[in-house]
Amino acid sequence: MNRIEITPMNESNVSAVAQVASENLPEAWSLETYRNQLSNPNDFTFLACLDGEPAGFISVWYVLDEAEINNVAVSEKFRRKGIASALFAAVEKALPNAQRWVLEVRESNEKAISLYKKLGFENAGIRKNFYSKPMENAIIMVKRHGEEV
Ligand SMILES: CC(C)(COP(=O)(O)OP(=O)(O)OC[C@H]1O[C@@H](n2cnc3c(N)ncnc32)[C@H](O)[C@@H]1OP(=O)(O)O)[C@@H](O)C(=O)NCCC(=O)NCCS
Repeated sequence: MNRIEITPMNESNVSAVAQVASENLPEAWSLETYRNQLSNPNDFTFLACLDGEPAGFISVWYVLDEAEINNVAVSEKFRRKGIASALFAAVEKALPNAQRWVLEVRESNEKAISLYKKLGFENAGIRKNFYSKPMENAIIMVKRHGEEV
């Protein structure tokens, strides 16, 4: 049936978030780090399940009017079904007053860059050698809400 269900990270799904992260991100946070976010008032992490199975997550920190996307990942078998887009929609709905959305992405990560462009993010600069293993530049991407540019 392909039903996407999105829930905020909580005690009962935090290990599913950490597992999706470890399987899909080269520099994933540990379970302990995700668990610590449960008491971080600035953390907005959501888990997406497809037909009840953990499929993807997004992790965002919201400070003042800025939302920083720490990570987004979808397990391989669930990709290209709109899950990352649905996770962005959920966190944007949860943070209606966020004016500026910002993220970093490896410059070789074409899938993610095309997702972010589709969602309205624009290139805003480069951080040289930002990533390790392998070392690579980060592209900074930004999306503004509620402001005429
Ligand atoms: C990037 C990622 C999160 C996308 O998740 P997803 O659930 O497959 O994305 P969606 O289905 O919502 O895709 C939305 C749009 O993104 C773009 N996109 C997604 N995957 C793509 C791919 N493999 N090639 C080209 N464009 C792609 C397309 O524009 C797509 O729209 P379309 O399917 O209508 O063409 C997923 O590939 C992933 O987890 N990759 C590994 C982890 C990662 O790189 N995370 C980002 C770290 S910054």
